[in-house]
Amino acid sequence: MTLSYSDLVKPELLSQPVYQPGKPIDEVARELGLDPASVLKLASNENPLGASPKAIAAGKDALNEVELYPDGGCYRLKEKLASSLEVDPEQIVIGNGSNEILELIGHAFIGNGDEVVMGEGAFIVYKLVSLLFGGIPVEVPTRNYRHDLGGMVDVVNSKTRVVFLASPDNPSGSANTNEEILELIDALPDHVLLVLDGAYSEYLDDPIDLRSAIAKGKRVFCTRTFSKIYGLAGLRIGYGYGNADLIELLNRTRAPFNVNAIAQAAALAALDDKSFVEKSREMNATGLRQLETGMSALNIEYIESSANFVSAKVGNGNQAFEAMQKDGVIVRPLAPYGMSDWIRVTVGLEDQNRRALESLTSFLSTQGG
Ligand SMILES: Cc1ncc(COP(=O)(O)O)c(C=O)c1O
Repeated sequence: MTLSYSDLVKPELLSQPVYQPGKPIDEVARELGLDPASVLKLASNENPLGASPKAIAAGKDALNEVELYPDGGCYRLKEKLASSLEVDPEQIVIGNGSNEILELIGHAFIGNGDEVVMGEGAFIVYKLVSLLFGGIPVEVPTRNYRHDLGGMVDVVNSKTRVVFLASPDNPSGSANTNEEILELIDALPDHVLLVLDGAYSEYLDDPIDLRSAIAKGKRVFCTRTFSKIYGLAGLRIGYGYGNADLIELLNRTRAPFNVNAIAQAAALAALDDKSFVEKSREMNATGLRQLETGMSALNIEYIESSANFVSAKVGNGNQAFEAMQKDGVIVRPLAPYGMSDWIRVTVGLEDQNRRALESLTSFLSTQGG
C-alpha cells in the first residue's frame, strides 16, 4: 500500500487545527506520579460545587432505562426550557454540549469561502468550526480585551454568513453590554446570523433578553450550556434558541439521538434546583474576588471577569502552567489564543483558590524581576 490516510481524506482536513482541552486530573497524576486526589483542576471552567444533588439523582434514575433509546426530540426538556425562556418549544434545539450546536451552525451556514466574523482571541471553537466547513475566519481586534462590536459590523460584507460572539467570552471573561449587543443585532444585514454564545450568561447579573429581537425576526440565535453553572459538563448537554424556522433547519443537520437519556434527565432536574444555581453564582462571585484580589497583590495584570474564571498575565504562560502543574494545580495556558504570557484560572472553592494563588506566587518568585 503506497497511499496513507492523509492522501485519502479531504485535503482541507490536513490543515485543520485540533482543539486542546484542559488536562484531565488522571493524566497529570500519571505523568507526575501524583495522587489524583491531590490534583486540583482549575482548567476548564467547571463548577467546583459539582452538580445539583437533584440532577445527579435524576441521572442515576435514568440509568434504569438505558436499554431504551433516548427521546430524540428532548420533548420534556424543551417544554421546561421553553417555559423558562418564554419561547415556544419549536424555538429550541438541544445538543451534545453547546459545542455541538456551534457545529450545527457550521453544517447549516458555513461553506467554502464563506466569511465568519469573530473577535480576536475569542473562544477557539468558532475558528475551528469555520475552518472545518471551509469558511474563512475574520478576526476583529479587541479593545482592552473586550470585543469591538462596531468593528465586527465594519468587516461584514456579502460573503459574511455568521458572526460569533460570546458574552462573557472565554478566555478573556469580558462581557459586552446588552445595549451593545442589541445594537449589533440591529446593525447586521439580513444575510448574516449572529450566534450569541451564552455559555457563561448565568453568571451575569442581567443576562440579555432576546425574545423581542427574535420575535421581530432579527437574525440572532443564542446558545447556552449545562456544563458551567449547572455542573453537568461530563454529561455533554447544551441548547440553543432562536427562530423556529432556523431550528427546523438546524435539526436537519443533527444526529438522531444526539443527547443521551441521562443528560436529559439530569438537565431537567437541574433546571428545577434554583437554589443550587444561586449558591453557585454566589460562591463564584466570592471566589472571583478572592482570585482577583490575590492577583492584584501579586502585581500582575488580569482581565476583569464576568464569568467563572480569570485570565492573568504571568510572564510565560506555558512555564507557569508547567510549574503549577508540578504543584498539582492544573490551569490553562493561553498560547493557543495568541496570549502566550497568560494563564486562565477557573474559580474554585476558597481553599482551592488559595492553593492556586500560592502556586502562582511560588512560580512568580522563580521568575526574578
Ligand atoms: C464560550 C464557550 N462556549 C461554548 C463552550 C462549550 O461548552 P459545552 O460544549 O460544554 O456546552 C465553552 C466551553 O468551555 C465556552 O467556553
